[in-house]
Amino acid sequence: MKNVKNYISENKDRFLNEIIELLKIPSVSADPAFSQDVLNAAEMVKSKLEDAGCDIVEIHETAGYPIVYGEKIINKDLPTVLVYGHYDVQPAEPLELWTSPPYEPVIKKTDIHPEGAIFARGACDDKGQMYMHVKALELMVKTDQLPCNVKFMIEGEEEVGSNNLSIYVAENKEKLANDVILISDTGMIANDVPSITTGLRGLSYVEVEVTGPNRDLHSGLYGGAVANPINILTKMIASLHDENNHITIPGFYDKVEELSAEERAEMAKAPFSIEKYQKALDIDSVYGEAGYSTNERNSIRPTLDVNGIWGGYIGEGAKTVIASKAYAKISMRLVPNQDWREITELFKTHFESIAPKGVTVVVKPHHGGQGYVTPIDTDAYQAASKAYETTFGKKPIPQRSGGSIPIVSLFEKELKSKTILMGFGLDSDAIHSPNEHFGVWNYLKGIETIPYFYQYFTEMTKK
Ligand code: BES
Ligand code: MN
Ligand code: MN
Repeated sequence: MKNVKNYISENKDRFLNEIIELLKIPSVSADPAFSQDVLNAAEMVKSKLEDAGCDIVEIHETAGYPIVYGEKIINKDLPTVLVYGHYDVQPAEPLELWTSPPYEPVIKKTDIHPEGAIFARGACDDKGQMYMHVKALELMVKTDQLPCNVKFMIEGEEEVGSNNLSIYVAENKEKLANDVILISDTGMIANDVPSITTGLRGLSYVEVEVTGPNRDLHSGLYGGAVANPINILTKMIASLHDENNHITIPGFYDKVEELSAEERAEMAKAPFSIEKYQKALDIDSVYGEAGYSTNERNSIRPTLDVNGIWGGYIGEGAKTVIASKAYAKISMRLVPNQDWREITELFKTHFESIAPKGVTVVVKPHHGGQGYVTPIDTDAYQAASKAYETTFGKKPIPQRSGGSIPIVSLFEKELKSKTILMGFGLDSDAIHSPNEHFGVWNYLKGIETIPYFYQYFTEMTKK
């Protein structure tokens, strides 16, 4: 590849200005108040794909938010890379914790990003990372060195479960046919420790409702004599882990794949400082399942966490009341081989079974998905590894992540292709949190690395 660095330095300011424009759109898929903004973001992605050199760009309507599809087919005999990403973002709340407004992107320096980072909701997850691919395509087209075919599929419902994308993929297998799927929607270890994500966890997300008396009660008149749904709910939740922090749901671990001692030893080689980890989070100790390291706990082991809990009176001052109902939202992160539907069933059966007399429990499944592991003995992984080596000057470390992109396992099932997860974010970029940001260096490094993947992958797989 020629002129990659030159092209990037000549166009750097424009590359930054363009992503900043996209980040100004509050495309929150979870909140209907933003529906027009989500649609506007799709339109902007469409026009940017056209500008970058796609020959066909379509907005594909779904029952929810649209999928932006683009392609540039240069020769049917050459391999095809399918790029996936998402233009929707998580809600920005709590707004008061942002140091600058979430949809007014600004570049600020941080300790980890001395060249500056773009602060905005979606900067890293996933607009900034998705847009690196649009600019990498532009670079390859404008410098006349696009080596293969490319397809883009950018959705607007990743943060709410990708339900409509599943249908779209199943219905458009031929249109989406490809030799490899390329995604930048994960992270890497550090800017001087490049890594390629080789695993994602699955997910089962449920909501529970505990109902006691038919109305809120005076906590003096009735207190002590009826089941308090909040007391009961917290007790039930506490019982879901034992003293070793193992999950107590019967059958939960049955299909969990245990890694061999060799695999665990290999994992333990990745650079990691427990002191830095604790310091970054202002905690005096880590916490988790007995017998596993922090990096194992957050990648190869399944988990159960309450994501939200509410009920009763939470306004100013005190109100003496026993609430009629209590609620919680619970996520279970799953590892390969665990089936998310089966785990959801196991949870439901168990949670209902531990409810004491005096309350009723309803478990409402939300969404879920399977985990995924990328093999590293493939042309695609080797091409990605070589691309990082070229631009970082170091071989990347394969690393399994704790996050989930449930659609990836469905891609494999429906499209029969493997996914390469080339993430350029850092854990400290605060995705889903206030003050999400994406390093300017990371953004440009992504744009630089992606074209080499195309080149090496094409060389390795040319028919
Ligand atoms: N991009 C993230 C997933 C991610 C981030 C994976 C960092 C690995 C490293 C994605 O947008 C996301 O947030 N996924 C959700 C699941 C989805 C069903 C809402 C998640 O992991 O909570
Ligand atoms: Mn994402
Ligand atoms: Mn996300």
